[in-house]
Amino acid sequence: MTNWGILACGNIARKFAQGLVFAPNAKLLAVASRSQEKADAFGAEFGVERLYGSYQDLATDPDIDIVYIASPHTGHCEHAILCLDSGKGVLCEKPLAINAQQVERMIAAAQRNERFLMEAMWTRFLPMMNQVRAWLDEGAIGPLQALYADFGFRAGFNPEGRLFNLDLGGGSILDVGIYPLALAVQLFGEPNRVQAIANLSPTGSDEIALFNLGFPGGAMASLSSAIRATTPMEATIVGENGLIRLHRPFWKATLLTIEVQGKDAVTTARPFESTGYQYEATAAMEAMEQGLLEHPLMPWGDSLILARTMDEIRNQIGVRYPGE
Ligand SMILES: NC(=O)c1ccc[n+]([C@@H]2O[C@H](COP(=O)([O-])OP(=O)(O)OC[C@H]3O[C@@H](n4cnc5c(N)ncnc54)[C@H](OP(=O)(O)O)[C@@H]3O)[C@@H](O)[C@H]2O)c1
Repeated sequence: MTNWGILACGNIARKFAQGLVFAPNAKLLAVASRSQEKADAFGAEFGVERLYGSYQDLATDPDIDIVYIASPHTGHCEHAILCLDSGKGVLCEKPLAINAQQVERMIAAAQRNERFLMEAMWTRFLPMMNQVRAWLDEGAIGPLQALYADFGFRAGFNPEGRLFNLDLGGGSILDVGIYPLALAVQLFGEPNRVQAIANLSPTGSDEIALFNLGFPGGAMASLSSAIRATTPMEATIVGENGLIRLHRPFWKATLLTIEVQGKDAVTTARPFESTGYQYEATAAMEAMEQGLLEHPLMPWGDSLILARTMDEIRNQIGVRYPGE
């Protein structure tokens, strides 16, 4: 049995806790909030035994094996290092941190403590992604040429909330643009060309962004993100001989279509139970059992590429976070 702790009791923490129920051999032993009342209420909902009113108390609980970090982007670095330095494994929400410098500090903390660390890029562990990987491995659509993908949704404008507030890492790119970007990096590696444009909100965060990427070898990706408008939310992987569509919403697709030139398109379903966060949790536990510090499907190198690329995109569109 692996004992989990959840750090920060917000929106995604609740969905993760719902999914964790479906992960074999996982026990949600403790939750921590900045407020004891919030921890008590969250814990009561999920029957959690240990309820902490401080993140520090969770980090130093000797019975916790791995902590899931669900604070705003700007808290990830500090909170992950707190847990790693206390000897815990860490599954940290995306983006792993607000910039590459912070990601490097987190990786250094995992290395010096010899503890597991993974960015919670849950898409890579969903059942549909096993099918996508199988098609790609067998060369079903030929050599890859391009990716078209977008993730945009309409959020009400709240200058204080984490989506728009620069103090909390606001903006569409870090919040949802990371999904199409992570798919591009999974397919093609690190881009060597980046071209981005964006519209900024009154707080200075990016509310819609378009970014084109070029990769060594010639593949290209045309990607976008938005927090002020709902976009198609689809991904299409294009090969020389056909294409693979991850249907809306592509980052948690349950429907895939493959179209190979000269053949009928085939649509296949890959449903999952509950919220789907159990797959990344299971992957993290399996990696820890094997003594791994990083997971081969979401390695540190990919988190660094994501962070470096988002740094470059933000540099081009003029979005800087306080302290940068
Ligand atoms: N994987 C996914 O599908 C997915 C979906 C949504 C979000 N996320 C990621 O999860 C993270 C949290 O997003 P969320 O939507 O859950 O946010 P949220 O509802 O605002 O929750 C964030 C929690 O962080 C804690 N916190 C610590 N410092 C804070 C501060 N200065 N201001 C506000 N809250 C603070 C609070 O918990 P306490 O008061 O209990 O300490 C708060 O409830 C983000 O990094 C986001 O990218 C991932």
